[in-house]
Amino acid sequence: MSSRRLIVFAVGSPYAWDVVESVRRTGADPVCVDNLGGADPRLPGLTRTAPAGPFVLGLSSAEHRPAAARAAREAGLDEPTVLVDPTSAVASTATLGHGTYVNAGAVVASHAALGCHVNVNRSVSLGHDNEIGFAASFGPGAVTAGGVRVGAAAFVGAGSTVLPDVSVGPGAVVGAGAVVTKDVAAGDVVVGNPARVVRTRAVEEQRCPHC
Ligand SMILES: CC(C)(COP(=O)(O)OP(=O)(O)OC[C@H]1O[C@@H](n2cnc3c(N)ncnc32)[C@H](O)[C@@H]1OP(=O)(O)O)[C@@H](O)C(=O)NCCC(=O)NCCS
Repeated sequence: MSSRRLIVFAVGSPYAWDVVESVRRTGADPVCVDNLGGADPRLPGLTRTAPAGPFVLGLSSAEHRPAAARAAREAGLDEPTVLVDPTSAVASTATLGHGTYVNAGAVVASHAALGCHVNVNRSVSLGHDNEIGFAASFGPGAVTAGGVRVGAAAFVGAGSTVLPDVSVGPGAVVGAGAVVTKDVAAGDVVVGNPARVVRTRAVEEQRCPHC
């Protein structure tokens, strides 16, 4: 029986199960905190009230991760921790901010610098020297080439590719399967190959509440 406990906070979406499985693969016991109510009752250790201890977020939405991080702080959780699935490969020269989660089969290449509460989904590949902002999130299988920058709370969709040295602005959204060949402005939603802007959203500045 494992003795280490890891709290998974904000478990309102099925993505919480990915996090639970990663926690289990590290040999720890997941405790799921359903801060908003209505979560899957089958989640392990389900509770409405956060116990003390290290935690990660249980949702993938870049739109909602900043608020979830603030809610965790307000619930008294002050130990955001790094969760790296044992089936992923993170370069020894990469840096991961607190609360960052690297899911199964993902690769983080040399000298990549990931901020706090970043979500790296299943089979994502982040290239060398990437700079990834607070609470940014990647859909399954997204690929970034070397030198890519992704701003706070941006979302890079499933199966998309971001070409070398391109910047994706804060709060921007890259649609599933897009090929991003040039910089994406803050709040822009881009789709297709080559990626084109389909709309723009208002963006609020987002900062890690734990820093
Ligand atoms: C890009 C995205 C956010 C747009 O969502 P939306 O704002 O609701 O946009 P809509 O669905 O209204 O689509 C707007 C237009 O873009 C097209 N479009 C939407 N997503 C597209 C995509 N990924 N690739 C190509 N075209 C796309 C739609 O067909 C539509 O075209 P039309 O105006 O000619 O009919 C969404 O489609 C998407 O790709 N999300 C990523 C999902 C994902 O990766 N999830 C990961 C699971 S964790």
